Amino acid sequence: MAEISWELFDRQVAACTMCPLCQNIHNKVPGQGDKQSPLMFIGEGPGQVEDEEGLAFVGPAGQLLTRMLAAISLPRDRVYICNIVKCRPPNNRVPEEVEAEACKLHLRMQVALVKPKVIVLLGSTAAKNTLGPEIRITRDRGRWFERKGVWMMPTYHPSALLRDASKKAEAWEDMQSLRDKLMELGLYEDIYGGAK
Ligand code: URA
Repeated sequence: MAEISWELFDRQVAACTMCPLCQNIHNKVPGQGDKQSPLMFIGEGPGQVEDEEGLAFVGPAGQLLTRMLAAISLPRDRVYICNIVKCRPPNNRVPEEVEAEACKLHLRMQVALVKPKVIVLLGSTAAKNTLGPEIRITRDRGRWFERKGVWMMPTYHPSALLRDASKKAEAWEDMQSLRDKLMELGLYEDIYGGAK
């Protein structure tokens, strides 16, 4: 296999036609943030604003994510944020299995390049595609899973919190658990400390 690099990743995503989602988009949304961060967030797929701007989590759900991070004193530009699929599904529908599978080539390269120690899976699509189809977000949110030395936690997608405010208390518990995990691993100061 050719040596991986961000240049290769960018070219690979730009040239990708492995599923039909790229046929109806304005921009691909590869993901962005601190490429050396020990903390990665994975969402589902770009929405309308993300498609227009080519950036992940910049619409209403993204603004909520920024506030959730701020609530545990994590500056957003110190984490890496991306999605399961890099092209917006029509009408924000859930990506189909073949679309998510095709796009995993890109996600795997991203994870290999960032080398996060902790990954937060935002919503059911991210959780199922990363941890396995048996994951149930309402049952498994807030649980920690270790995979090949990387700690992963599913939590509600910020869009779900915008639709149903009653989920916010559990989401807050999950953010506190994230902060505790980062502290336990000695990573919290790394991320927070570089903020100023
Ligand atoms: N929802 C997602 O899953 N990802 C985004 O980038 C925006 C909204």
